[in-house]
Amino acid sequence: MDGNGRWAKRRHLPRVLGHQRGVEAVRRTVRAGVELGLSALTLYAFSTENWRRPEDEVSALMGLLKRFIMADLEEFASNNIRLKIIGDISAFAPDIIELIEQARARTADNTGMVMAIALNYGSQDEIARAARAAAAKGEITPETISAELDTADLPPLDLIIRTSGEVRLSNFLMWQAAYAEMLFLDVLWPDFGREHLEEAMAEYARRERRFGGR
Ligand code: FPP
Repeated sequence: MDGNGRWAKRRHLPRVLGHQRGVEAVRRTVRAGVELGLSALTLYAFSTENWRRPEDEVSALMGLLKRFIMADLEEFASNNIRLKIIGDISAFAPDIIELIEQARARTADNTGMVMAIALNYGSQDEIARAARAAAAKGEITPETISAELDTADLPPLDLIIRTSGEVRLSNFLMWQAAYAEMLFLDVLWPDFGREHLEEAMAEYARRERRFGGR
């Protein structure tokens, strides 16, 4: 969800306002994802590297996350959405951890779209944790590592969308991306909406996936 800062800067607004508008884009995208029948939607909200941002920006992001979960939980629940977190949230403040656990429990039996939020997430960290867990149980193979990833219960990754014109993965779902399609859009995240998701799905449908075969 890249481009919140640039969206704000172009308007001579504080970065935090860009993140606030980013949350509105999250709402639009989650609603559209449910309506368009996605089985899972994973949002990269906070990376293992984002702790390096100024303290006030980190705490603003935490506040937005908290408010988002509190304000929207009933809507998730009534839309049959299951909330899942990928990443290691043990570093978060106890009140946020508790809120996340409550939201997870409240939506645990839902069978519709999985909304996975990546928090304190980094692909390298995830793969290292999975490899340690696989090693502790025995053999290290692609299958045993996959089974220990945070995404183990999610469907295979079909499409990665990165906004704001950056053309790199930045430590997001690198293992899972082995055969995923990728789409890099110039739109800044706060401007992202249903029409972009629909266009992305149409583009995905046009691609021919061969998974290394022919
Ligand atoms: C990247 O834009 C965005 C982030 C680091 C934070 C994304 C978080 C949210 C949209 C809000 C919280 C999340 C949820 C799920 C409620 P940037 O700041 O790197 O923008 P820039 O590249 O233009 O500077």
